[in-house]
Amino acid sequence: MDKLETLKNWISESSRIVAFTGAGVSTESGIKDFRSVDGLYNQKFEYPPETIISHSFYERNPEYFFRFYREKMLPLGFSPNITHRVLARWEAEGRLQAVVTQNIDGLHQKAGSQRVHELHGSVLRNYCVRCRRFYPAEFIRDAQGVPRCSCGGIVKPDVVLYEEGLDQAVIEQSVMAIRRADLLLVLGTSLTVYPAAGFLHYYRGNRLVLINRDETPYDHSADLVFHQSLGEIFSKL
Ligand code: APR
Repeated sequence: MDKLETLKNWISESSRIVAFTGAGVSTESGIKDFRSVDGLYNQKFEYPPETIISHSFYERNPEYFFRFYREKMLPLGFSPNITHRVLARWEAEGRLQAVVTQNIDGLHQKAGSQRVHELHGSVLRNYCVRCRRFYPAEFIRDAQGVPRCSCGGIVKPDVVLYEEGLDQAVIEQSVMAIRRADLLLVLGTSLTVYPAAGFLHYYRGNRLVLINRDETPYDHSADLVFHQSLGEIFSKL
């Protein structure tokens, strides 16, 4: 039986699917990923991008941080693609338990997914570091220089920067979902960033499916691997 048939069978037999997603699920919506050849981290900047989107750089040079963040990290006005939509449909059908995502673009929710655990936060949530007041992403987009709250504090995106920890509640919910999954779909991620990539070890089943255009360090431990575009596969599921 060919791989796609096997995947279709596994999906039809599952009632507790978990999708673990990365930037590769959003490239077909027009949002660049990080480590593909045309990804953000392969573009030239004054500093390495991973340095700019770190906590210490945000503290040391907020003007530059927010300029980079506004230009390169604020994906607004994009639409979900077939992969986001199929995952949302499976949840509505009671087949998919949760999406655990590294993405900060909010496209899973835009497609209708309800149970989405955002390991790295979301650009849609922004809080004043002083009074905790909430601001939408448009506030950051439209602000000049460092976005300031009416109380004078900096408005900081609810996005996990390098050197920052993940939210404890999100970790627990993600681990619980992956542990209970009967089918784990790992979609569009290079599996090179921790602790996120390490979450795969909580999966206890024998149906780990990896769909990623490039090779990943986990190819050898997956039960089914597709090095193809997600849209190509999900349009057949
Ligand atoms: N179909 C299938 N795979 C794709 C597609 C596609 N249409 N587009 C891109 N990919 C694959 C690429 O081959 C790449 O291996 O998606 C993967 C994306 O990997 P990264 O760019 O490293 O993104 P991700 O794994 O999500 O990065 C993890 O790194 O910088 C941090 O916080 C950031 O959440 C991000 C984390």
